[in-house]
Amino acid sequence: MNIHIFENEEDLNMTGAGLIASLLQTKPRAVLGLATGSSPVGIYKQLITMHQKGLVSFAQAHSFNLDEYVGLPTKHRESYRSFMNEQLFNHIDIDLSRTNVPNGEASDLAAECADYERRLEDLGPVDLQILGIGHNGHIAFNEPATELTAITHVVDLKEETRQANARFFDSIDEVPTQAITMGVGSILKAKQILLIARGEEKAEIIREAFMGPITTSCPASLLQCHPNVVVLLDRAAGSLVR
Ligand code: F6R
Repeated sequence: MNIHIFENEEDLNMTGAGLIASLLQTKPRAVLGLATGSSPVGIYKQLITMHQKGLVSFAQAHSFNLDEYVGLPTKHRESYRSFMNEQLFNHIDIDLSRTNVPNGEASDLAAECADYERRLEDLGPVDLQILGIGHNGHIAFNEPATELTAITHVVDLKEETRQANARFFDSIDEVPTQAITMGVGSILKAKQILLIARGEEKAEIIREAFMGPITTSCPASLLQCHPNVVVLLDRAAGSLVR
């Protein structure tokens, strides 16, 4: 576990973007695991800047996103497909046909999950997986539970997760109740994992996840079993890390 705490945003973003850019420079056909949410946005901005300066190309890369809401039209501004197009894909040279986001509008969700997992198997393993962390310790949408699911599956979102995401919608009623998510097993297969957390409200869960016991009641704590995890924190999120 490699935990870095940064005094300023720019250094954190440059370090995260630097890891991704170096991977693509040495392995242009790399498979990237991408996350939505506010945590990776600064890193995506930095990658866009690096791409505009000709420092990094995504032309041959593949990507897999962690999750997507169920029942939200793909074209909805808050779908994770729209988020990725807006925050990254539309501004870089990635081939959209090589970008994978689960289809939350699929009529057969079980078949969609099985197909997503098969695509991950065929193109994987993911070379570098970006993760945020929920206030309750979720990674992707693997919520705290007595048992976790290894592979891509449909999940009921916890009320606290819907509340946390309500800030992106006009009201809590608009927040979907289900999502398709990669499982913890699919995530842990990545060669390297880059987890990002910012802000004081993440400090306690960061302490639990990386300094506490490995437990399904904090899914992020399973990352302690992975041999190559880099954690990038701002000063506030890292304030309880000893
Ligand atoms: C997003 C995802 C979620 C978020 C987490 C943190 O694709 O899978 O697990 O990473 O909810 O969200 P933010 O970064 O908005 O605090």
